[in-house]
Amino acid sequence: LKRVRTRHFQSAKENGIKITGLTSYDQLTAGIFDQAGIDFLLVGDSAGNNVLGYDTTLPVTIDELIPLTRAVANAVSRAFVIADLPFGSYEVGPEEALHSAFRFMKETHAHAVKLEGGVRSAEQIRRIVAAGIPVMGHIGFTPQSEHGLGGHVIQGRGDQVEQLLADARAVQDAGAFAVVLEMVPAESAALVTAELRIPTIGVGAGPHVDGQLLVWTDWAGLTAGRIPRFVRQYADLRGILGEAAAAYRADVAEGTYPGPEHSYD
Ligand code: KIV
Ligand code: NA
Repeated sequence: LKRVRTRHFQSAKENGIKITGLTSYDQLTAGIFDQAGIDFLLVGDSAGNNVLGYDTTLPVTIDELIPLTRAVANAVSRAFVIADLPFGSYEVGPEEALHSAFRFMKETHAHAVKLEGGVRSAEQIRRIVAAGIPVMGHIGFTPQSEHGLGGHVIQGRGDQVEQLLADARAVQDAGAFAVVLEMVPAESAALVTAELRIPTIGVGAGPHVDGQLLVWTDWAGLTAGRIPRFVRQYADLRGILGEAAAAYRADVAEGTYPGPEHSYD
């Protein structure tokens, strides 16, 4: 199995082959998703919500993401692994962004980094790419600016489409190999996808994009409570694990576990 590289993202777009990505934060899921043929794994700062127990991604640090990224990168043999630059690790300027990218590239086996922002992050992207590190852009709804955007609000609607296109062009011109479009209307995502040479990866951006990305805990039905409407839930892991835990508790309480087959003579 050939490793996925940035040129595969490009040729997928050129040949109309859809790209599939999931987030992953640990070696078990990374190995499973890699074997299933998922093209790329994003070690997202969504680990803040899904692993670390925060209610936003804002508190997440590089130090917290490094061990998770290392675990994912060490578990794959084919998938392209992308490290997410957390809030506060790249906004000050291109130098800070490059230092942060270096940390992931030197301390883990990640293949690329992702950062949020179009026009506002173009110089950061340019600097990291110039150092030989592939960058994935991320525009539309950018969770790290949730408070500035006024909550989980769809971006790129109506007259915002010009800004979305400008952000997309800025990311491409700065040298990114692909760009995530999060929570934008399908029609706007189609426009951006037609306009760009680099592939667009949708998260709640409809079908007219070059690839799809989902947060694995939403996708697998592990997340508690409400999940975004754009997610198709492919499993009910929360139900399965809840039933397993209840059954185990009952077996122990009733003395039916462990049985003789689980005991040493
Ligand atoms: O952190 C993350 O999971 C992400 C994707 C949802 C785009 O940035
Ligand atoms: Na993220």
